[in-house]
Amino acid sequence: MRSMTTLDIRRSDSIILAVESSCDETGIAVIAGGRRILSNVVASQTALHAASGGIVPEVAARAHLRWIVPVLDQALADSGVTVDDVDGVAVTHGPGLAGSLLVGINFAKTMAWVHDKPLIGVNHLEGHLYAAWLSDPGEDDRPEPVFPLVALIVSGGHTFLVEMRDHLTYRLLGQTVDDAAGEAFDKVGRLLGLSYPGGPAVARAAEAARRHDAAFPRAWLGETYDFSFSGLKTAARRTIDDARVDEGLPTGKAAASEPDARLSDGAVAELSWGFQDAVVDVLVTKTIRAAEETGARSIVLGGGVAANGALRARLAGEAEARGLPLIVPRPALCTDNGAMIGAAGARRFAAGERADLALDASPSLPLARR
Ligand code: KG4
Ligand code: ZN
Repeated sequence: MRSMTTLDIRRSDSIILAVESSCDETGIAVIAGGRRILSNVVASQTALHAASGGIVPEVAARAHLRWIVPVLDQALADSGVTVDDVDGVAVTHGPGLAGSLLVGINFAKTMAWVHDKPLIGVNHLEGHLYAAWLSDPGEDDRPEPVFPLVALIVSGGHTFLVEMRDHLTYRLLGQTVDDAAGEAFDKVGRLLGLSYPGGPAVARAAEAARRHDAAFPRAWLGETYDFSFSGLKTAARRTIDDARVDEGLPTGKAAASEPDARLSDGAVAELSWGFQDAVVDVLVTKTIRAAEETGARSIVLGGGVAANGALRARLAGEAEARGLPLIVPRPALCTDNGAMIGAAGARRFAAGERADLALDASPSLPLARR
């Protein structure tokens, strides 16, 4: 017998316990009916990795081990259901850091085995896509994405455009040929002397820009749907160095030994704005073109960089101008979390997919091939 919660779970709703540990967030969620978030607990390691300015894989794996049990306890307590109520355990099995993935996978396998529940393996990128289907309590009327759709997934490790004509089927339209969009944000944030991770810090700095004329190059790569951000990163380094020379500050190795010799806030704001504008321009232009050329009926945006206000606003405006609904999760559901794995896991569960105890980490698991 299922305990009833205040959310009045329908008897036909499957309840999925979902585990995400592919990178630097330990996330566990309980999802009902593939959409409704009963709980979603995330232990972030951002502060832990801030000192090194990036993720140290061994440190990340150890932190997952430290936090995974408390995160589970909190997720179950918040959800109002018990382990007995759970129909299946979903877990990210790739792509991601091998050591981090293994912590979540072994934990999920143990839960599934001890409590005799089916195990479901989920692709992390598929999770970012399925975040678009999630709804919070009281949000049952939130519109669902309509097929066929085009989805832009932009995270710290991935940047791709995919077409979905139905659930769980993906056609890759384009991807980055070098850096991911989030990676470029993080690197430019570091060059500007901003805090880790660079993405949110660059976005905050850009908001303070008074002038909006800093021009950075866009890599269009012809008519393809592919992306490239390494040239933009190099241009940003050169422009930042020029601005430092203008302000009488050291550049290159000399700058590294004088971390306090920082650019003025005004220059940081304007350069952040210019860089962000170049990234957003390319991402939005290609997404809209893909939607028009494939006859999409809706657009989905996901991944950590989808938390970026400028990207959300510009894509929303361009989609609305064409009468295309845009579905973009709230920012906390764009960055890594267990709920998105639960949404994708519920679809795989409903499709009858089951993993066995041989499920292993797949650090380079692809979502789709062209
Ligand atoms: O999806 P995610 O949480 O982890 C990966 O799967 O990679 O994405 C993290 C990335 C980082 O590069 C971070 O800087 C970026 O998302 N990010 C942002 C913002 N919030 C997070 N980038 C730009 N603007 C933001 N507001
Ligand atoms: Zn992610």
